[in-house]
Amino acid sequence: MVSENDLLIEVKDLRKEFKVLKKNPGLAGALRSLFSRNYQIIEAIKDISFSIHQGELVGYVGPNGAGKSTTIKILCGILFPTSGIIKVAGFTPSIDRRKFAMKLGVMFGQRTQLWWDLPVSESFDLLKSIYKIEINAYRKNLEFFNDIFGLSEFWGQPVRRLSLGQRVRADLAAALIHDPNVLLLDEPTIGLDVLARSRFRELIKMVNREKKTTILLTSHDLGDIEMIVHRLILIDKGAVKYDGTLKKFLKDYGGQKNLLINFSSPPRIVRLPAGAEILNLKDNFLEIKIDTAHISYHDLLKVLPKWGNVIDIQLESDSLETILSDLYKK
Ligand SMILES: Nc1ncnc2c1ncn2[C@@H]1O[C@H](COP(=O)(O)OP(=O)(O)OP(=O)(O)O)[C@@H](O)[C@H]1O
Ligand SMILES: [Mg+2]
Repeated sequence: MVSENDLLIEVKDLRKEFKVLKKNPGLAGALRSLFSRNYQIIEAIKDISFSIHQGELVGYVGPNGAGKSTTIKILCGILFPTSGIIKVAGFTPSIDRRKFAMKLGVMFGQRTQLWWDLPVSESFDLLKSIYKIEINAYRKNLEFFNDIFGLSEFWGQPVRRLSLGQRVRADLAAALIHDPNVLLLDEPTIGLDVLARSRFRELIKMVNREKKTTILLTSHDLGDIEMIVHRLILIDKGAVKYDGTLKKFLKDYGGQKNLLINFSSPPRIVRLPAGAEILNLKDNFLEIKIDTAHISYHDLLKVLPKWGNVIDIQLESDSLETILSDLYKK
């Protein structure tokens, strides 16, 4: 049973407007803009509500400019909301900043939170003082993160000399060193190679499992989302378009399904239902594509025995990537 106390992130009727200076085109226009203060309102977040419970691992996705980073910045208190209620780990981020920082870990893939010229070790010493981490807890955590992130490999190096993969590992350990209840990640795998990426995914899952950290993650790498999260929140133009399990999303929005059917002898296809298309027919094997807008998987299953004796069926669904790129186009 989930109780109200388990609610770690609560966003209700969130709105965020940016007031930006309207620029006139050209140099003469730029000069004119200096004198006539014409402002333009950008509605980055129109209306977003969601709640996340303790221990959840949620993917926050949407096209460029949808409002993901803005939401993350509001959740960690960097930006103030225009209106709406925000609670993270029991705090209102823009008000209770100091106490709240203890409960929160944040990581932005594009820039480091560490001290550029300091060795990694000194950055961590600073974090220890800032968060007032007790020495035993600090040692234990360093050991834990060294085991999974291999920090010792670059412990004495200044941050500016780290490779991207090393920097991401250091940043992630830094975001987690004080055992935060909530971890916010904005495009953490940007620029990582295949190996580092898959390692990162394992780390995130492990931290969520072992430390029960509640995690909200944005990523344009849909492999990250498919491999890591259970729940998906899809936003577009500052509003929530889907909030539910990843499994249900793939089921409801996955339009195309390919089926590979193995019959005991070459099938005799009598009547192909509308919405089904034969991709390949060879000996006992039949490969069919179905458009779920016209025919359901279950309806097709009823037809198959009429064509022959079915031994095995394999189902291949659209990937999250195909589904989302179709949705973004619409
Ligand atoms: N500081 C700012 N001042 C003015 N407009 C802003 C500011 N920050 C964001 N915006 C605008 O708000 C909208 C949402 O931006 P946001 O960075 O949240 O998008 P995003 O979903 O993170 O996109 P991406 O996938 O490209 O990172 C965009 O139209 C952006 O131009
Ligand atoms: Mg962003």
